Amino acid sequence: MMKWFGTARFIEAGPAAGDAARNAQDSQPAVVFGQVGKVYASAQSKAAHAALSGVDLQVARGEVFGIIGRSGAGKSTLLRLVNGLEKPTTGSVRVNGVDVGALDERGLVTLRRRIGMVFQHFNLLSAKTVYDNIALPLKIAGVPKATIETRVNTLLDLVGLSERRDAWPARLSGGQKQRVGIARALVHEPDILLCDEATSALDPETTRAILALLRDINRRLGVTIVLITHEMEVIRDVCDTVAVIERGEVVEQGPVWRVFGNPQHEATRALLHTPGHELPDDLAARLRATPQAGAHALFDVRFTGESDEEPEIATLAQAFGAQGVRFVHGGIERIQGRAQGRLIVSAPVASADEAATLAVQARRYASRVEVLGYV
Ligand SMILES: Nc1ncnc2c1ncn2[C@@H]1O[C@H](COP(=O)(O)OP(=O)(O)O)[C@@H](O)[C@H]1O
Ligand SMILES: [Mg+2]
Repeated sequence: MMKWFGTARFIEAGPAAGDAARNAQDSQPAVVFGQVGKVYASAQSKAAHAALSGVDLQVARGEVFGIIGRSGAGKSTLLRLVNGLEKPTTGSVRVNGVDVGALDERGLVTLRRRIGMVFQHFNLLSAKTVYDNIALPLKIAGVPKATIETRVNTLLDLVGLSERRDAWPARLSGGQKQRVGIARALVHEPDILLCDEATSALDPETTRAILALLRDINRRLGVTIVLITHEMEVIRDVCDTVAVIERGEVVEQGPVWRVFGNPQHEATRALLHTPGHELPDDLAARLRATPQAGAHALFDVRFTGESDEEPEIATLAQAFGAQGVRFVHGGIERIQGRAQGRLIVSAPVASADEAATLAVQARRYASRVEVLGYV
């Protein structure tokens, strides 16, 4: 059960009914896209524009789900389908088991209270204080004043803005404005939080702080987060699962460590700037296709994180012949507790055949090993 505002929690149903409903909910995904297509009718031209096609996605309850893709790929459309701001042209979007497309206006209002949304440009009302910006959705919903007071204060505390409750938005930094945006998105105790480029307008340090806050909200309150970004660090640092969207289609999805460690689609590689076979310039300039006398072979050694053990240096060096084996370039990093990365290794070889043999040996201790050439 979510620990929201402690005793101030105001879920309409009684505890028993609430638990039963929640247990039923817990067993199903938070959001399910089933073969979703979205076509925007264009006012200017007859040509209808397919913003999304054939999208199948499942967002598990309690996870942080990242969506990445180039500008115009369809990310925001995907998010707006979740809270019914857009309707799918084909297929269905189910939130907590409910078909969003089938809801009437009243149903949508109820749904949107279960779903908070955070925007890139904060969308704060400049003529209202921090407190009033956060309180507004509750006032509109007719929540009693005392409840509003308790709740807003709890949220101000959660986002670290208690000191600024009476400040005007214009006096806040970007990070503080986004904290207000996050607090406002949480006023109805949502179980899903949608973030559309929530950190794109912020500097790297502020981005990290806001991401830490989102992660905290996810962990402590159990809120499912669906997050759009074009910043890979955002995905790597906070997401559990990632989907890559390209021209309206999901081209790749999976646990973040797997997608980062072994991206399959060209669009993903482009977004991740995954080094292909390109080498640092000085090495590339010296690289030859065949070994000269006294040559070193250059090996591209990849670790995709599929193994739950870290790469073992001694065995790897042994596999390359131990003597004169050097680490030339690259590194290992951890994503979701999985060590992954790429190492360029050089080792002395007498022939191309020997290099090929060493690569085969080394493959037992790495995800992939290729001979790049000779220096
Ligand atoms: N309301 C709209 N009317 C017409 N076309 C739209 C509308 N919203 C988005 N689009 C188009 O749909 C495509 C996807 O847009 P969007 O979902 O905003 O992508 P992203 O968020 O990935 O940049 C773009 O080509 C965009 O121009
Ligand atoms: Mg967008």
